[in-house]
Amino acid sequence: MRINFMSKSVFKEIGWVKVLPFYLFAFLPFANSQNIPVYLDDTKPVEQRINDALSRMTLDEKIAVIHAQSKFSSPGVKRLGFPDLWTDDGPHGVRPDVLWDEWEQAGQTNDSCVAFPALTCLAATWNPLMARLYGESLGEEALYRGKAMILGPGVNIYRTPLGGRNFEYMGEDPWLASRMVVPYIQGLQSKGVAACVKHYALNNDEEYRHQVNVIVSDRALHEIYLPAFKAAVTEAGTWGIMGAYNLYKNQHNCHNSILLNKILKQDWRYDGVVVSDWGGCHDTDEAVANGLDLEFGSWTDGLTMGATNAYDSYYLALPYKKLIQEGKYTMKELDEKVRRVLRLFYRTTMSRLKPYGFLCSESHYNAALKIAQEGVVLLKNDPVKNGKTRQPLLPLQRPERILVVGENAIKMMTVGGGSSSLKVQREILPLDGIRERFKGSQVDFARGYVGDTIQSYNGVTVGRSLYETRPADELIAEAVDKARQADVVIIFGGLNKSNYQDCEGHDRQQYGLPYAQDRLIEALAAANKRLVYVNISGNGVAMPWLSKVPAVVQGWFIGSEAGEAIASVLAGDVNPSGKLPFTWYDSLEQCGAHALNAFPGTWREGHQIIDETYKEDIYVGYRWTDKQKVKPLFSFGHGLSYTTFKLGRLTANKLQMTADDEITFTIPVTNTGRRAGAETLQLYVSDRKASVDRPVKELKAFQKVFLLPGETQQVSLTIDKRALSFYDESNSRWTAEPGLFEALVGTSSDCLPARCTFELKM
Ligand code: BGC
Repeated sequence: MRINFMSKSVFKEIGWVKVLPFYLFAFLPFANSQNIPVYLDDTKPVEQRINDALSRMTLDEKIAVIHAQSKFSSPGVKRLGFPDLWTDDGPHGVRPDVLWDEWEQAGQTNDSCVAFPALTCLAATWNPLMARLYGESLGEEALYRGKAMILGPGVNIYRTPLGGRNFEYMGEDPWLASRMVVPYIQGLQSKGVAACVKHYALNNDEEYRHQVNVIVSDRALHEIYLPAFKAAVTEAGTWGIMGAYNLYKNQHNCHNSILLNKILKQDWRYDGVVVSDWGGCHDTDEAVANGLDLEFGSWTDGLTMGATNAYDSYYLALPYKKLIQEGKYTMKELDEKVRRVLRLFYRTTMSRLKPYGFLCSESHYNAALKIAQEGVVLLKNDPVKNGKTRQPLLPLQRPERILVVGENAIKMMTVGGGSSSLKVQREILPLDGIRERFKGSQVDFARGYVGDTIQSYNGVTVGRSLYETRPADELIAEAVDKARQADVVIIFGGLNKSNYQDCEGHDRQQYGLPYAQDRLIEALAAANKRLVYVNISGNGVAMPWLSKVPAVVQGWFIGSEAGEAIASVLAGDVNPSGKLPFTWYDSLEQCGAHALNAFPGTWREGHQIIDETYKEDIYVGYRWTDKQKVKPLFSFGHGLSYTTFKLGRLTANKLQMTADDEITFTIPVTNTGRRAGAETLQLYVSDRKASVDRPVKELKAFQKVFLLPGETQQVSLTIDKRALSFYDESNSRWTAEPGLFEALVGTSSDCLPARCTFELKM
């Protein structure tokens, strides 16, 4: 090799040792480009590299890359230098490693992670910047752990508060979920780690999830259940998507011709891989023909369920190879799948542009804390007597004696719940967070109730013993006794990550709080008026005692920094700004799916399939309560602050728009209180007159603003024709009909004081 691009004197000056690495790094690929094969040549377009790789692969190599080789990995192409592809759950942190072919822990000592808040909490921030931060931080943890794909985020719609996995999703509204999922994916993939958006689609039941056949109108499918997936594909460019367990139109969704071939791949032009949910593939022919690209988690050896190391018997393994060899299929379908898998390789494992990852860094803990603090929702904060005056109970004013009550104050919530369970490096429990923050106070604890005392989940042991044998009466009596002595009582109750709570595999069986918590709360409310109830859950719960409890906080499952985050909100170091991503019903009857007796579904004869008709149609969440004119406990978009905000006059930059136009609404918002705080301006659109039945209003834009005391900001919210459209079943198109619309702007779906009528002209 001749060096003629730098004078020798330069080398002398700066030294060979320093220059050589630069020279090799910068120029070697180009110098060598004639000698290296196209598929390895970074300078060549990816599609060309894919074609080249494909042309070199044998049938066996092609078959190998489209199915798993272990619980969470699929093989690369060793002969050609493509490494194995490692996936992992998702979506709240990087799951600890399991054994090659077992669900048990591999027993690594370097796989503890940071747990980020559950996605419900992320959605409650209503802040896309938090979603970006989440994705980036998680991506860095995944890189360190050698994972090329994270199995998440989840964007199934919160159809009923009994949904066991709602905590892993982003609420009831398609627009909110769409705005939050896009930056999560972009953040993750900016680190060279693929997202695998799940569970596509209509996966709204956990109970018998492999057998539920969803019957839903095209309109509800497109308006409610698909938009977040569509945004993930068409806006975020997700590299992976996971088929759901359930069926739609009698076909399992991991090989569903309408959902995968037609909508995802044809209409949305998706170029990534479709991954089966673990065990979601059931048929070779359907998997070949209906859009599945990468099969994971099947439990069959062709004869029985539950076989181990049965990877060769996967539907897309030897059974598929045999059908090719017998001439039933050509290479066409196989090449199409392999092409997508190779594209994934180039985007992840084969990408040289990836940064380095790191695990459990302070920056990740800070991200987890910040997201948690922004997601906590202050549901209620009524004034209570304080000396001679009355003022809101929160934030707490240096109480001398604090009583913390409830199992959820001492329970790790990053462990359990199914596949999202984690092994964290640390999790600050609420009681510890409060003790740390209120060091000057005397902080006592009473158990109050016993929920689930299981000490380990999937091989991860919970640090703190929850052993307790005293009966409920005794626990309540003890808590009441202590409450009488306290200046303030903080109850940590709600659900947990055990079966039939917020947990994969089953749905909740009741809307009410479990473990006799209502009795405890009533008793404490009678004993001490200065009562704060912090609800830990990913779902709404019944609150029959609400009028007797002055302060209620929704604390979600918020990960590693839970205790610190909640304590900072209770103390007022952080001014709460979370807003509910779902409607919090008073009772199940307020929810469309339950009011119409449309959840769960009905077994068919033969007890193989459950048909579940989504009779409430597009009327999910606030769309239903608006239509029925019922007042939920807390509305979608609700969330209080320790400061006050005043909205000014809403103006529009025009009062008429055309189909290719945009319209911008502007509203001044002022922080009229004495603390800095954030408010989220929400814009809903109401169609005055339409040829189809339309919701009273629908969220179409929002913006969170941070304001110092006295500060005013002009908030602008822009929409276009898409915000006015509905899915027209008569021609399968999104349609905006000309006529009058109203923009409703405010701070929650039940507080929209600013209004402006405008017209769409064609
Ligand atoms: C879950 C998925 C998860 C997969 C792998 C399945 O049971 O439904 O969400 O990613 O397991 O753990």
